[in-house]
Amino acid sequence: MNEAAETGSSTLRRSLGATNLISLGIGAIIGTGIFVLTGPAAARYAGPGVVYCFILAAVGCVFAGLCYAEFAAMIPIAGSAYTYGYATLGEIFAWIIGWDLVLEYAFGAATVCSGWSGYVLSLGQDFGLRLPPELAGTPGSTFVLWQGHWEFLGRVSGKLMELHIDPATLPQRHGVFNLIAFLGIMAVTAILIVGIKESANFNSFIVVVKVIVLLIFLYIGGLMLLHHPELPSINWHPFLPANTGKFGSFGWSGVLRGAGVIFFAYIGFDAVSTAAQEAKNPKRDMPMGILGSLVICTILYILVALVLTGLVNYRDLNVPDSLAVGIDVTGVRWGSLLVKFGALGGLTSTMVVMLLGQSRVFFSMSKDGLLPKFFSTVHPRFQTPWISSLTVGLVVAVFASTIPLDALGEMTSIGTLLAFIIVCAGVWVLRRRRPDLPRPFRAPFSPVTPILGIVISLAMMVGLPWETWARLIVWLIAGLLIYVSYSRRHSKVQLALGEEVAGD
Ligand code: ALA
Repeated sequence: MNEAAETGSSTLRRSLGATNLISLGIGAIIGTGIFVLTGPAAARYAGPGVVYCFILAAVGCVFAGLCYAEFAAMIPIAGSAYTYGYATLGEIFAWIIGWDLVLEYAFGAATVCSGWSGYVLSLGQDFGLRLPPELAGTPGSTFVLWQGHWEFLGRVSGKLMELHIDPATLPQRHGVFNLIAFLGIMAVTAILIVGIKESANFNSFIVVVKVIVLLIFLYIGGLMLLHHPELPSINWHPFLPANTGKFGSFGWSGVLRGAGVIFFAYIGFDAVSTAAQEAKNPKRDMPMGILGSLVICTILYILVALVLTGLVNYRDLNVPDSLAVGIDVTGVRWGSLLVKFGALGGLTSTMVVMLLGQSRVFFSMSKDGLLPKFFSTVHPRFQTPWISSLTVGLVVAVFASTIPLDALGEMTSIGTLLAFIIVCAGVWVLRRRRPDLPRPFRAPFSPVTPILGIVISLAMMVGLPWETWARLIVWLIAGLLIYVSYSRRHSKVQLALGEEVAGD
């Protein structure tokens, strides 16, 4: 609280109204989730029933979002869930959340960039530019020689199946290093080091671009469906394909798994909660900002998912640029180019937000002594935490160029869901322990809201594959080892406590 007062952020900057907050939320939310993951989630887990995944994930986000808002209004300093954890549950929880937020921001940025590279490659193809398969995909991705070109297998597998061609009979090559994704992250890192002015106008512009691109997709795709009703009548049947006998592969377990994956599309509304100290009237505007941006995105997402799965059979959607594939079916070339350029612009801004968020979390952790000092070293000329940004950028670039998009997205989802659970639990615990604390915004119907936030987030985590759980556990163990061997010994709070004890 002292820190909030010191930085002078308590009263002066209360300039954001509900509309600004909704726009901030939409700017952070719309990204790779809708532009990239919708297709693969339909193709692999739920078919057109991916619509149900969007609804379930949105409901979980609403409950968790209200809990974020309660904390954000109570503890109005930067650092999001990490700060809330530190102030309420103690250092070890703060460490777990901070370490876990790396999954949200660093893996999130890598996921977004991986999707971004899919759109760059797709645009390149439109202009006759292609990279060799080895530089166009992550290790393990398969390309087949089809009609004279090396095509990503996911893009043509549906067609090959229709033509009864076994892909194994075609010449194959494999991805090694996704060059475009690597270059994309390094370019954004360079921008962050030199310093960007977070301009509200630029944010509003990007928000408008993203929303318009989705609306154009809906318009062109919707018209096509109206004029060719045979398309949806084939593609939407069955709406939720029957389970294949494996958990998570279609049927209702597929919806649960799909929701865990699609949840990624909603990440970012916590950006609204971090602006709590800048809200004119947090009590009214925070829930409006969080719920408003979530409701708008949910409606857009559901409509886009319906149109996409109506236009293209879900089996053909296991591609990184699924909306572009959808618009290609309509044959409206300008629409296709517009969607691709719009997606590129929109995804770039999401990447910037996520990499910025990551270096800020490391910055806060380093200031608290939990990470080495160089993470909070500020560049003398650019005045940005350049070592933090560069380290994060290099690691994220390597992730983005070598780990498949779905694995990255699932890690981001599971990590963020865990952070949500801790935040919801924190709200619940603190209401019981310190009912007296001033709460400018209170999550309604507590403890029902935090409990439902925990239950739905946990359900989505349970839906995710066991490999993702295994990676999460390894990640947390690695984090705890760092905490025990470094952070606990260097923590400013621990050092101060030690001095007090020695003084006594
Ligand atoms: N929700 C953001 C996206 O979909 C993270 O890219």
